[in-house]
Amino acid sequence: PPRSSMGDYAFPCFALSKTLRRSPQQIAEELSGKLSGRLGFIDRIQAAGGYLNFFATPSGFCSDVTSAIISEGDDIGSSDEGKGRTILVEYSSPNIAKPFHVGHAFTTILGQALYNIYKHLGYDVFRLNHLGDYGTQFGKLISAYKRWGDDTALNDHPINELLRIYVRFHEEAKTDPSLDNEAREYFKNLENGEPEEKKLWKLFRDLSLKEFSAIYNRLGIVFDDLNGESFYSDKIHEIVALLEEKGLLTESDGAKVVMLDDFGLPPCIILKSDGTTIYASRDIAAILYRKRKYGYEKNIYVVGNPQALHFKQVFAVADKLGLDASGSCVHVGFGLVKFADMKFSTREGNIILQEELLNECVKKTTEIIKKNRDERKTDMTDQELSEAAEKIGTAAVIYTFCRNSRERDIVFSWDEMLDFDGDSAPYLMYTYARCQSVLRKAGADPADEGSERVGFQKGVTDEEYELVKLMYGFGDAVKKSAEAYEPYILVRQLNFIARSFNKFYNNRPVLNCEDPDKVASGVNICRAVSTVMSAGMKLIGISPVERM
Ligand code: ARG
Repeated sequence: PPRSSMGDYAFPCFALSKTLRRSPQQIAEELSGKLSGRLGFIDRIQAAGGYLNFFATPSGFCSDVTSAIISEGDDIGSSDEGKGRTILVEYSSPNIAKPFHVGHAFTTILGQALYNIYKHLGYDVFRLNHLGDYGTQFGKLISAYKRWGDDTALNDHPINELLRIYVRFHEEAKTDPSLDNEAREYFKNLENGEPEEKKLWKLFRDLSLKEFSAIYNRLGIVFDDLNGESFYSDKIHEIVALLEEKGLLTESDGAKVVMLDDFGLPPCIILKSDGTTIYASRDIAAILYRKRKYGYEKNIYVVGNPQALHFKQVFAVADKLGLDASGSCVHVGFGLVKFADMKFSTREGNIILQEELLNECVKKTTEIIKKNRDERKTDMTDQELSEAAEKIGTAAVIYTFCRNSRERDIVFSWDEMLDFDGDSAPYLMYTYARCQSVLRKAGADPADEGSERVGFQKGVTDEEYELVKLMYGFGDAVKKSAEAYEPYILVRQLNFIARSFNKFYNNRPVLNCEDPDKVASGVNICRAVSTVMSAGMKLIGISPVERM
């Protein structure tokens, strides 16, 4: 309700009016009679203007909610709504032999958060990485490697070396057109499964994956399915046959296309004039494959907004094939990544590598924590410090990708990311660490669930009440994040909770307090906040630290 005089929670009865054939107000009155006295911490129920308004007793509410949170632990906000339902989340999907840049980091982090959230809601979730491991560029790479490849460099820094020879190929092909013909030959051999070309392709793929794995490990990410574009290349003939059977293929300048006028979209090319497959045809084959293999309810693609048209076309063709893509496939798009105050030793085309961003952020975090340690003269060891800095620095990057609605462009700025008192990961982590420190001092085992010391008997302050209400909203935020494919909804809730906790904490001592009831309620609040923070941070991919 907009005002607290109208209650703490409200249920509008308008939608029921048609089915029950009574006025909303009559329904509200009837329900209020039936519910009175049956809802734990609800003190009073009032029917007004077609709403059912609930008034909670603050102390009952706070003790019920904090106890429930503490006993749920990491399961807080979980549910079984997804039981027996399968969701695929396709994310990351970098291109082999190309740098893993910050755009790939965006899908990787967003996709991982969505995976965690769906898992939490009980779905059977599969993590798919649709690697860009196919296409004519592999013919060019093979040609370039045979001419200028350096094996030592390839082993030490595979992607750097592959990029170097690829760039050189393009340079030299400007004056020597025979190179392009050669590359086409190699690609054709690769498509025909010639052992030598296949061996080189596999080498490039394996080495690139090894390099990507370093980033995935750092972010704690594992995939269930690494079938990339190459995996689907031999599955396109079935798509072509199906389309032909349904009379959907049209010739256009020698290419075979599916007309999509009825969807208001440009035609989708399935086979190029030379008979080779393209990116879109491989995606259509992937839908058929995934549908058979997983029998999914939802197939989610976390891919940048520039590919929106591509997915509309792919889904439209799949619809025409009877695969019901419009009812089950979702393109979860996102904006661009920009940098406010960062200088990187950048290479070709202003590409910023995810690894560089992480390293730099961890370095800056280390400086901040070191300064803190020296000022406060704590006993934090160097080892502890560097572990904390790795976690906090990584978290700061993750948070920045998740803190706003994904369609918006992201602007990275060190000041904001590492503001220990702002809309940042360190702020959440600091709040958690602060609660843990209180709990250590109170001698309360943070993992101990059965707390007798509930407190709140002697009333609740407005600040406590507001904080507990925000924590009560955690489960709802998790659900809304899943429904809208927007982890930021959860992130924002965590930030509100952290803000509210710090206000509470700065205004009253938790442990230095005469009244044992106040100590008990303060300790329980710290326990609940640390539980909520820890569970929430883990859902977005952040590992909490105990001290910072
Ligand atoms: N590899 C592509 C790129 O880096 C993204 C692939 C997206 N997924 C898909 N199923 N098309 O741009």
